[in-house]
Amino acid sequence: MIDKNTVKKFQDQPTPFYYYDLDILNTTLTSLKKESENSGYKVHYAVKANANSRILRIISSYGLGADCVSWNEIEAAISAGFDPSEVVFAGVGKTDKEIDSAVRAGIFCFNCESIQEIEVINHIASLQNKNVRIALRINPLIDAHTHKYITTGIEESKFGIHTWELDEVLNRVSSMKNVQLCGMHFHIGSQITRMSVFQSLCTHINELQKWFATHNIGLKIINVGGGLGIDYENPDKFPKFKEYFSLINEFIDLSPGQEIHLEPGRSVVGQCGTLISRVLYIKNGSNTQFAIIDAGMTDLIRPALYQAYHKIENLASDGNLCRYDVVGPVCESSDTFAKFIELPETRRGDLIAIRSAGAYGEAMASRYNLRDLPRVVFSDEI
Ligand code: LLP
Repeated sequence: MIDKNTVKKFQDQPTPFYYYDLDILNTTLTSLKKESENSGYKVHYAVKANANSRILRIISSYGLGADCVSWNEIEAAISAGFDPSEVVFAGVGKTDKEIDSAVRAGIFCFNCESIQEIEVINHIASLQNKNVRIALRINPLIDAHTHKYITTGIEESKFGIHTWELDEVLNRVSSMKNVQLCGMHFHIGSQITRMSVFQSLCTHINELQKWFATHNIGLKIINVGGGLGIDYENPDKFPKFKEYFSLINEFIDLSPGQEIHLEPGRSVVGQCGTLISRVLYIKNGSNTQFAIIDAGMTDLIRPALYQAYHKIENLASDGNLCRYDVVGPVCESSDTFAKFIELPETRRGDLIAIRSAGAYGEAMASRYNLRDLPRVVFSDEI
């Protein structure tokens, strides 16, 4: 809920803007930290979900590590206070230059997605006379039951190494002098709401553990990636960290000395962010009314790209409920935030809140149509 006092303060603000509620962020982080301390699991925040520098500084102050997918993310994380020795680097297409910089920075681990990539890392590390840690991102062939664009662990996915390639990988890695295989890594998708999916992942990990054991390989790090979903229907609900951590604890069989690592992104920042916009026009369509707002798909692309649901609230009206298509100003029909939803009677100038927009909102904003990037307002600034 955005309280009345805050709504009053929004009145003088130019829209659209991301409003970050720092109380929500801190409460989320406190609960995540508690679970991580209770379980002894190491959390690397997935920077891609929200790389706003102030948000990153707050997250790093809780002592988390970072999960990055580009050198620019690694740089942003380090300058926000994350320790390079707690940074993991993932991605199917790390460039030579990015690998070179990451080796130089002394990051914790490269999560590797192909044999060729491991060879390149080995070569670049040898040029620097270094020995670097790698983990194999393994494709466990588990359907995450989420949107197909954010499903990453099925047969057709470009991500990870297939289990049938593992023999060859071990063979090749055993002759490499500048990489040290120390873990397995997984990430099967994002916005996963069925806990049974994570349970299947745990079962698969146990099977792989046995496979590695028969090859006399003990891997210290088991990185289960990210993916924990949030409740977009109920933006005031906090993520289910406790349930998630308990499930991992119950279903993964760890050997002595092994560590669990996680890479949550959305669940850390999703609920603290709201996109605030103003209604520009109300216009009659053939069987709906359009509420045309000043935020568009350039500010929040998730509804256009994944048909994602974000709860929309009119912060200014408590009139009778009417039906609206809430749309943005961009020249694309996909620039639609919601179709045929009920809102209190809505007028030009009303403030509109698009909730649960802290993850993959600001981070995915673009300047299409040469629109300005969205502004950012923190709860302690107004
Ligand atoms: N680790 C890896 C290797 C990843 O690829 C991702 C997300 C994460 C961790 C964090 O996952 P999370 O906990 O946030 O689910 N733009 C999409 C989401 C793309 C997720 C990409 N990878 C969206 O707006 O739904």
